[in-house]
Amino acid sequence: TTEIYTLSLHDALPIWNAFAPYSKFRVGAALLTKSGKVYTGVNVENASYGLTNCAERVAVQKAVSEGHRHFQAIAVVAPSAALSPCGACRQVLAEFGECVVICADSRNTRRLRIHLLSELLPHTFKL
Ligand code: THU
Repeated sequence: TTEIYTLSLHDALPIWNAFAPYSKFRVGAALLTKSGKVYTGVNVENASYGLTNCAERVAVQKAVSEGHRHFQAIAVVAPSAALSPCGACRQVLAEFGECVVICADSRNTRRLRIHLLSELLPHTFKL
């Protein structure tokens, strides 16, 4: 529902905690579990660039490490009109099944772009 989306979006707004000294591109994510808990994440960059963690994956690691594996939705916010989770984050999310992906531009959070994860990543790799 719209209420859930607005809530998770609101929770993703503290992108100010993002550690992005290299790209200067701050990303915030809020992952809503089926039980109604919200886990946030921000991108955490590293001087060795490839070690950077995206906001979405940080949120997933936090939730799973606290015992939550079923997700309703993830909201992702950054100062971009074209923001969408990267391929790696899509695959990591897909490990835990279907969920709604909500993307918003932090400069204008009124306009949400809403997709199912399975639309963003069809034919997911599974073992
Ligand atoms: N980034 C995310 O955190 N999530 C995305 O969906 C796209 C990319 C981060 C990684 C890096 O710190 C910065 O954005 C620029 O690529």
